[in-house]
Amino acid sequence: MQIREQVLLSEYTTMKIGGVAQFFIEVTTINELKEAMIFAQEKNIPFFILGGGSNVLIDDRGFAGLVIHMVIMEIEWEESDNHILATVGAGETWDNFVATTVEKNYSGLENLSSIPGTVGASAVQNIGAYGVEARELIISVEVYDGENNTLRTLTNAECAFGYRESIFKTNKHLIITRVKFTLAKEYIPKQNYKDIALYIEENGVVALSLSEMRAAVMSIRAKKFPDLREYGTAGSFFKNPIVSRAVADNFLQQYPNAPHYEAGEGMIKLSAAWIIDHVLMMKGVRDGDVGTWNAQALVVLNYGDATSDEMKKFVKKIADASFEKIKITLEPEVILIDAEKNF
Ligand code: EPU
Repeated sequence: MQIREQVLLSEYTTMKIGGVAQFFIEVTTINELKEAMIFAQEKNIPFFILGGGSNVLIDDRGFAGLVIHMVIMEIEWEESDNHILATVGAGETWDNFVATTVEKNYSGLENLSSIPGTVGASAVQNIGAYGVEARELIISVEVYDGENNTLRTLTNAECAFGYRESIFKTNKHLIITRVKFTLAKEYIPKQNYKDIALYIEENGVVALSLSEMRAAVMSIRAKKFPDLREYGTAGSFFKNPIVSRAVADNFLQQYPNAPHYEAGEGMIKLSAAWIIDHVLMMKGVRDGDVGTWNAQALVVLNYGDATSDEMKKFVKKIADASFEKIKITLEPEVILIDAEKNF
């Protein structure tokens, strides 16, 4: 196990922001993870797990603790009657895994194509796009429990998945090592999401095959999201707000055209992108090196050398404007990592 010191984290994040980590360890096996955790425990320093760095905003003041860069990779395939089970290392790149499932003709994850990040993060965040959420395909999650240094497996129910939520967001001692997915051998297209339906209409086709669906999602995303090689970004910065029916009714009276969706238990999901765009009129605005993307208002960009404080100030301006104007709270979807907190 190689322990590095004073490692610049901006190079490990897609936002291209982040100061120096006091200690940094890359773990490729569970044994290395154990050694890393014991190192942090013995030194009594905080730690956090870094995957693809595509959904974090790390403070420029750095992190006074241990960053564990998760690179446990490997995919194991098992066949059952109608399904394939894939057990995937937490450090595997999400989209490489999705590409492999589509190449093998296994269905389930194709709508989640082109999402940056790692397989571990897919479970932490319960990533979702184009009508599919990771939790629908996750059977179980293997974790290293940093409280007692043991390995165990959580069922899907134990993961307490919600919209961009899971037990892993609040229980930082549960470190994901492998995720088990179920995939279907028979392809059932999920093409009802507005952007997909529009793509089908524009391309004059009736139904998309499995590989065409992946291609469609990749093409839609390429138009909506900035190229990570060109801009610093962590994708959607805020979650879509989930509000009570009374709050939604009040909002919809003022903005009858606003998109809204049933979110279960009498709650309504509103669109943060639409609010930023049509209520706050803040799509494509720029403040120094920080701004919202002109093709998707929910995406916040670092145009060059933005600092973490500039980024935080800019997103606070958006959240404050939303609260002031419509009394709706926008919560970050991106995970904020401060200098000394144990995240
Ligand atoms: N809209 C606007 N203005 C915009 C962008 C969108 O008015 O600038 C409207 C759209 O017309 C649509 C609604 O807002 O009616 C929703 O937009 P979209 O379908 O693009 O989805 P989203 O809710 O903004 C979510 C996820 C994305 C995911 C897309 C596609 C969250 C926070 N974001 O965005 O995930 O790719 O759906 O399914 O749930 C991410 O989490 O980082 C992410 C990129």
